[in-house]
Amino acid sequence: MHKVLVVDDDKVLQQSVKDALEYHSFNVDVADNGKEAVNTVYREKYDLVVMDVNMPEMNGLEALVEMKKHDPTLIVIILTAYSNVSDAVKAVKEGAYNYLEKPISSENLVALIKRALKARSLVETTAFSAPTLSLGGESSDDQFVGQSNEMKKVFNIISKLAQVSTPVLIRGESGTGKELVAKAIHYNGPRKDEKFVTINCGAIPDNLIESELFGHEKGAFTGADSRKIGKFQYADGGTLFLDEIGDISQQMQVKLLRALQEQTFSPVGSNREVKVDVRIIAASHKPFEEMIKKGTFREDLFYRLNVLPVYLPPLRERVLDIPILMDYYVQYFNNVHNLNIRGFSPDATEVMKKYRWPGNIRELRNVIEHCFIMESGDEVSLSSLPRQVLDPKHQVKEDSEDERSDFIDIQGIKNSILDESSTKALDDYTFQFASKGEGNTVKLDFQNAKEQFEKEFIIQALKLHKGRINQTALNANIPKKTLLRKIEKYEISPKEYY
Ligand SMILES: Nc1ncnc2c1ncn2[C@@H]1O[C@H](COP(=O)(O)OP(=O)(O)OP(=O)(O)O)[C@@H](O)[C@H]1O
Ligand SMILES: [Mg+2]
Repeated sequence: MHKVLVVDDDKVLQQSVKDALEYHSFNVDVADNGKEAVNTVYREKYDLVVMDVNMPEMNGLEALVEMKKHDPTLIVIILTAYSNVSDAVKAVKEGAYNYLEKPISSENLVALIKRALKARSLVETTAFSAPTLSLGGESSDDQFVGQSNEMKKVFNIISKLAQVSTPVLIRGESGTGKELVAKAIHYNGPRKDEKFVTINCGAIPDNLIESELFGHEKGAFTGADSRKIGKFQYADGGTLFLDEIGDISQQMQVKLLRALQEQTFSPVGSNREVKVDVRIIAASHKPFEEMIKKGTFREDLFYRLNVLPVYLPPLRERVLDIPILMDYYVQYFNNVHNLNIRGFSPDATEVMKKYRWPGNIRELRNVIEHCFIMESGDEVSLSSLPRQVLDPKHQVKEDSEDERSDFIDIQGIKNSILDESSTKALDDYTFQFASKGEGNTVKLDFQNAKEQFEKEFIIQALKLHKGRINQTALNANIPKKTLLRKIEKYEISPKEYY
């Protein structure tokens, strides 16, 4: 039974929403204001919160933000008076699922709740409690697995992006799940019964891609012996997934931009204008910022696509997901090969967690399949692991900078963790990297400067988050373990910033 918390200071309304939901077999608790609601959500796990905006003690917007910090997957539906719709819109931007205007019809509320629960069940955060993720017919065995904060954020974003038609750009290294995310967005939104069409821009020769995308007339070029519709038209009403978008030529970038802006295009060899309604999801592992600087990727196209960006971190930056993915694939390959392997031995598990996974989840899946073939016992042992995974050279070295993916947008991260005033504070802050060497020469020591920077960065980040470790780790993009280690190393005392 789903657990719902109803939050309203208006007792009459609170009771009537409670009655309506109980009638539909929800398990309902109530709270009278935002503060009480936040405490309740911190104490107990809820599937969903239905909350008023204007309340004493703490209003619905503030409560929403607090609740989402604790549980980013929590679904929150806002109830609002007509005069307050702008607050409700704000709430949706802060992560509320949707809002309903008062007076509330219980029918609408129940329908909205059911829709929200369904969408969330498709992007569940754990492997085995999650029903099969709807990823379309051909790969319906696939599931989305992840329990790290990074992945929880991604799941949360997917359920929001699914509801709108704006372009999405998914970025991440090879094998991080970009295509899976694209499908999840499509199959959890209003276009789910329409087509999901993929085109791999990197795999199609440049001279053919235009006709693949927009179609061609008979005789448009040598070999065009009949008229053909392109992927844009084929996907009409649905979603077009432009995989490896970073690989298209400059000439195609111009044509694509026009098609995106106007939702119209002309097939090759024709002046006809075709109008379509297609949702675009693009993906790439390319460093766009660099390509734009070099002039190989058009900035206007990038901004057109990057309206709603999703970034999938490499697996080595979300080590917490490794064990759960391992469990998931052990069960998966047990089914496929009709085996009964219990899992990995503790030392093999450790090695899997340390490996740097350059091929990310795709590689992990392949490694586990390899182990299943090699293993003769009922537990995967060290000796069944492929050589590259065992090689210490390929383990993640702590603190090593080249482990970071090549396109991390530092400015973007900075902007997302800091508001304007604190960004300024950080910019104003100048570090004394240089020290005086012999004979008044200036001496630069990279190691020393790096440590100074790290220490100051962590102090500033802790200050911003009032000394709260989890929040600092999450928002400053530092794995919690690393943060704790550095705090100890630099003898920082987070308590000072409470
Ligand atoms: N979170 C996840 N849970 C379970 N399986 C996943 C997850 N992410 C990715 N996978 C699996 O990993 C494999 C690679 O995923 P996908 O093809 O979506 O990656 P990609 O980012 O598109 O890679 P590339 O850039 O190489 O095209 C697929 O088999 C997919 O099902
Ligand atoms: Mg892909």
